[in-house]
Amino acid sequence: MKVIKVKDYEEASQKALNIMLDVIKNKPDANLGLATGSTPKRLYESMREDHRINGTSYSDIKTFNLDEYFGLSPDHPQSYYYFMCQNLFDELDINLDNVHVPKGSGDIDEECVNYNQLLNDNPLDIQLLGIGSNGHIGFNEPGTPFESTTHKVDLKESTIKDNARLFFNGNEDEVPKQAVSMGIANIMNAKKILLIACGQNKAKAIKYTIEGKPSIDVPASVLQNHPDCTIIMDEAAASLLETH
Ligand code: F6R
Repeated sequence: MKVIKVKDYEEASQKALNIMLDVIKNKPDANLGLATGSTPKRLYESMREDHRINGTSYSDIKTFNLDEYFGLSPDHPQSYYYFMCQNLFDELDINLDNVHVPKGSGDIDEECVNYNQLLNDNPLDIQLLGIGSNGHIGFNEPGTPFESTTHKVDLKESTIKDNARLFFNGNEDEVPKQAVSMGIANIMNAKKILLIACGQNKAKAIKYTIEGKPSIDVPASVLQNHPDCTIIMDEAAASLLETH
């Protein structure tokens, strides 16, 4: 694993931008694995800026998102598809036919099979990841087998409650109860992995991910087994590391 320690979120996002642009410039029809959440927001904004100023083209790029809530339409403001359009796709010259986010409707088991097939047919050149404070990657929570492929996830009661409070005006009925997520094996199949971790609340997970023994108790620790994984972290996320 390549560990890059930087000062803050801004520097982490700029380092990540350089790695993403390197992949895109070397392979203008690259397959990008993307993530949602607060962490990649500044990176996505920088990609939009770079496209506007330097003209980097995404016309032949294909994208594949890690996960999606099940039960929200793509135009629902809390869907990950909507997030991606707002934060990235709407301002790039990307062809929306080349944009892939697991579907949030229909038959969930069928969608898992279809999305998994799509990933097998389109090997990822890079997978971007954030990390949960418990070490989750995608919706792969502690206990998810390393061999897992695209699967449905039943959201924990606590997650549903948190999401209701944060995003659904306290209305639990509106919060999706399930999600579709790439599995850990799908993530590990990417040629290159780039994980960004910022903030003190990521420090414990980052310490285990880098210094612990790979274990399903901290899903991100599997990344130690990947031949080309870069972790970019700010000082706060790196604060518990002994070896770096
Ligand atoms: C996002 C995802 C999640 C997040 C993680 C960190 O598609 O799958 O695993 O990367 O929860 O979220 P933030 O960046 O909001 O701290």
